[in-house]
Amino acid sequence: MTINLPKLIGHRGVRDLAPENTLQSIKKAIELNIKWVEIDVKISKDHIPFLLHDSSLERTTSGNGSPLNYKYSELYKLDAGSWFDKKYKNLYPPTLKEVLDLCSQKNIGVNIELKPNKGSEEANVVAITELIMKHKFDCQYFLSSFDWFSVIKIRKLLPESHVGILIDSFDQKRNFTKMLNKCNEHNFFSCGFNITIISDEIINICKNYGILVTVYSSQNIEKNEAEELWNLGVDSIFIDNPTSYKNMLE
Ligand code: G3P
Ligand code: MG
Repeated sequence: MTINLPKLIGHRGVRDLAPENTLQSIKKAIELNIKWVEIDVKISKDHIPFLLHDSSLERTTSGNGSPLNYKYSELYKLDAGSWFDKKYKNLYPPTLKEVLDLCSQKNIGVNIELKPNKGSEEANVVAITELIMKHKFDCQYFLSSFDWFSVIKIRKLLPESHVGILIDSFDQKRNFTKMLNKCNEHNFFSCGFNITIISDEIINICKNYGILVTVYSSQNIEKNEAEELWNLGVDSIFIDNPTSYKNMLE
């Protein structure tokens, strides 16, 4: 399946408008006409892939500690919305299957970010691969991670899939070239960069390698910044709040 990345990808759903990585956040993105969403995926104790950004449950749920200590049936009982607003108290951390079902139904693309807790990298890749192979979801998707092991492994297990690496920082140009050679070796589809390290030089080198460029940030990327990035050749931007993009999304 060829995929065309859109200019905008909703970050953790639309994380400024609804609790991140919940079905509500994805539904909100769909309502606002966003065509692709990014989600963070890790596994429970019983190896069910589900959505959670952090390595522990505290910040975005009513739970404590590592999700690897709980079966999904226990995680399902957690409140994943009150931290954002009391009115979301009935939200729970959804499974990856639920999200892929919803996005297939609504014809929405999904960037599945593999966010394994330390030590569960292999089990995380295997559980996600098995789910995708078993259900053959209808939606477009691509897989990415900051974790090289995860992206290299899933590229091998799902050879038809599109896979990208995420880069938060690198020391020198030499490291960047080394990294791109690795991307090339594994036939990666994209590189996602933190907005703090992106440059026209990096974008041009990626383009010469035929690798798509995405950009994320710890805070919302507003439309004026995004326009500069698109002009430099960036393919997709992760956004938390689409308000300044309203005209583009009508
Ligand atoms: O995939 C882009 C972005 O989600 C990476 O950063 O920490 O928000 O998962 P983070
Ligand atoms: Mg992410």
